[in-house]
Amino acid sequence: MKAPQGHDLVETEDGSYTLFSHQFQECCHSQSGAIEETQKIYIEGTRLLARFSEYRPFIILEVGLGLGINFQETLKCLKPENKLLYFSLEIDVHLVNWVLENIVPKNFKISRSETYVHGHHENCEFYFILGDARQRIDLLASLLRDQQVHSIYQDAFSPKKNEMLWTISWFEALKNISAKDVILTTYSSSTRARKSLHQAGWILEDLEGFAQKKRATRALLYGKTSEDILAKLLRSPLPAFTD
Ligand SMILES: C[S@@+](CC[C@H](N)C(=O)[O-])C[C@H]1O[C@@H](n2cnc3c(N)ncnc32)[C@H](O)[C@@H]1O
Repeated sequence: MKAPQGHDLVETEDGSYTLFSHQFQECCHSQSGAIEETQKIYIEGTRLLARFSEYRPFIILEVGLGLGINFQETLKCLKPENKLLYFSLEIDVHLVNWVLENIVPKNFKISRSETYVHGHHENCEFYFILGDARQRIDLLASLLRDQQVHSIYQDAFSPKKNEMLWTISWFEALKNISAKDVILTTYSSSTRARKSLHQAGWILEDLEGFAQKKRATRALLYGKTSEDILAKLLRSPLPAFTD
């Protein structure tokens, strides 16, 4: 398998591969296991198996398609009685092409426009939206056609390297297209990113982190952020990310 332009393929400890981005100087996944991390943070973290049948279609938004591992692992959970509508935002067209070639099953019918790639097969439909995610929110909203998102995989590069996708206004934009019972998860427990989520109106929960990471984050639009998490945010002098 050849790495997409601007990236190196890196084998992780569970035998699956991730990509190292030359531009961001970061890997897309923990080197302790790309698939295992995806399973823990996104599939289990958003309680996908328990919630899949609650909506037809069940709508997932991914921030950062990368090498398509979240998409691949989500497809593995799809049962004949489920219906999946999957959106992924990705700035790098080489990655989208690579995922189409290496990850998307060949029985998907694919069509392309300037701004997205659309695929469908029986009970699954996807849109890989090309370009800067922040400038594609309106397109995403129009493709949603008044429907709302049930799960969000917030899987941008780390807040240090990819600040613009962890800002208050970014999380407000995500809130505006989400269903009341949406579950957002991310591998990050960065205080600044959590402050952005909190100030955008999300309720925060601790999620067990993957491998060496103690904590990850789950965010909801109902309930209350625990006193413990709020106290930690208040104690830190670091600000939320702003545009
Ligand atoms: C951590 S990787 C995603 C891994 C991916 N979810 C997977 O399952 O393989 C982060 C991705 O975000 C993309 N990205 C970075 N900045 C972006 C932006 N402003 N808009 C859209 N995508 C962006 C990168 O190109 C990269 O593919």
